Amino acid sequence: MGKNKQKIILVDDNVASLSMGKNILKNKYDVYPVPSGEKLFELLTKISPDLILLDITMPEMDGFEVIRRLKASRKTHEIPVIFLTSRDDPANELEGLSLGAIDYISKPFSPSLLIQRIENHLMHSDELLFNAFGVLAEAIEFRVEQFSDMINNNRNPGSKFNSTMGHGKRINAYVKLLLDELETRKLYNEAANYDQRFLLPACQLHDLGKLFISESILNKEGPLNDDEYNEVKKHPSLGINLIDKLSPEARDHIFLHYARIIVGNHHEKWDGTGYPKGLKEEEIPLLGRVMALADGYDALISAKPYRDPFNPSDAQKMIMAGKGTWLDPVLVDVFTDTTSSFTEIAGWKG
Ligand SMILES: [Fe+2]
Repeated sequence: MGKNKQKIILVDDNVASLSMGKNILKNKYDVYPVPSGEKLFELLTKISPDLILLDITMPEMDGFEVIRRLKASRKTHEIPVIFLTSRDDPANELEGLSLGAIDYISKPFSPSLLIQRIENHLMHSDELLFNAFGVLAEAIEFRVEQFSDMINNNRNPGSKFNSTMGHGKRINAYVKLLLDELETRKLYNEAANYDQRFLLPACQLHDLGKLFISESILNKEGPLNDDEYNEVKKHPSLGINLIDKLSPEARDHIFLHYARIIVGNHHEKWDGTGYPKGLKEEEIPLLGRVMALADGYDALISAKPYRDPFNPSDAQKMIMAGKGTWLDPVLVDVFTDTTSSFTEIAGWKG
């Protein structure tokens, strides 16, 4: 799946303005033209827009009344509103802004100005969101990984791996490396369409479901028995269950869309012997296949309760041996060509 287009609702009683606005915006956004405030509120029961462009002068309910109602409802008060109007006197502008509009654009507007102003506002709200998701992802990743980091540090004071990044940050760096290489080599076209600002923090949630696995199993010194291994194998489904408990509006966001794919598919194997579904080859979403390699490599170069880390050369051989069985052969080929970058991210000082 590519980047989700952001949704803009255009509210104007003038049919010519509606179709002109739609034509200007439709290439970049999903545009929903509606002719009145009443129709806007009907539409808001079905979709959550990223922005509303609102005419002021309309019969029945005018733009000021519409924004008052939007701001009075908990469900809609955070939707950014830009007034679009032919009234360009300062008093109107002030009233619009005092009621909570974020901007005011006078008609007739130039197409490039309209797009630029919309982009400025949407980019700002996107930046805020992706910073918030980044903090959330780091907090959860910290909780999931704190014991394995303790084990790494305690068991291997003389380890030749000395990465300045934790597991989550290394995973992000491997994933970015693989996706950028796929894009450069024009392999798996969807790789070029991911929004990495949201995808990379979403990667850090891959083991979200481990929050529900007992610490005594996760930190057991020695191999797991069958029952314990079956418990650990539940973590992709447990992570999915948690995401599915969130509201549809939250799940609709691209960050959680990516997280859900990664959480659910990072232990699938190319030959169909993975879990939880036993998907095979390209039935496994690309993000799951990419994460399987990134997470697998990082597991090999990390200490586990029952073993020391493998050195980069042995870890590379094990990844290459997984080509076509555990891992996607195309991704293993990319890995083989970029092993020095993987070693560098891993922090090898040998
Ligand atoms: Fe996992």
